[in-house]
Amino acid sequence: MADSSKKPVKPGKEPAVVDAPAPGGPTRRSLIWELAAGFVGFVVGLPALGAGMLVLFDPLFRREAIGANGPGKWLRITSLESVPADNTPAQFPVLDDLVDAWNRDANQPIGAIFLLRKEDGEIKAFNASCPHAGCFVSYAAAHDVFACPCHNSEFELDGSKVKGKSNPSPRPLDALEVDPEKLKLGEVWVKFINYYPGIHDLVPKG
Ligand code: FES
Repeated sequence: MADSSKKPVKPGKEPAVVDAPAPGGPTRRSLIWELAAGFVGFVVGLPALGAGMLVLFDPLFRREAIGANGPGKWLRITSLESVPADNTPAQFPVLDDLVDAWNRDANQPIGAIFLLRKEDGEIKAFNASCPHAGCFVSYAAAHDVFACPCHNSEFELDGSKVKGKSNPSPRPLDALEVDPEKLKLGEVWVKFINYYPGIHDLVPKG
């Protein structure tokens, strides 16, 4: 039977399309509002996201900043009074905080140096790593030289190679810079640099 409650539609008088929801779905207007709300939430959250990323990657940026100051790093080695005042070489460990992107391990050994203090107060510092292949040299008191146990290189107390004998090291011991201002305060600070072994020129690692 025909539905008599519906009025017939005259040609050219079709009803306007209304924003009626599809059965079980959102309306077009509600979709637009949800998209707009999501966009506003994203914009408002951007500063917090940026701050979080900075905290997350801060160690990476800090590490780059250290490297940007040139090779080596100023490190406190010991007190001045710990260094013998008669030019006898004394070996000291070099400690530094090891930092990767998300961890910091304080006071880790990264090398060793020899310090020599003359009677006039001058301090010399040498990297204890042999320039030939990187073994640690030691002070041989019997001959008053630095001696390498690996291939028998020997060095005078001024770092130069001992002459008149087989010595495979391509260069003298690597001298390191000492901070004169810290010395006045009774502290020994050295700009610690590891150089590539096996070559004549001083080429910093890292
Ligand atoms: S590593 Fe020192 S002589 Fe070879």
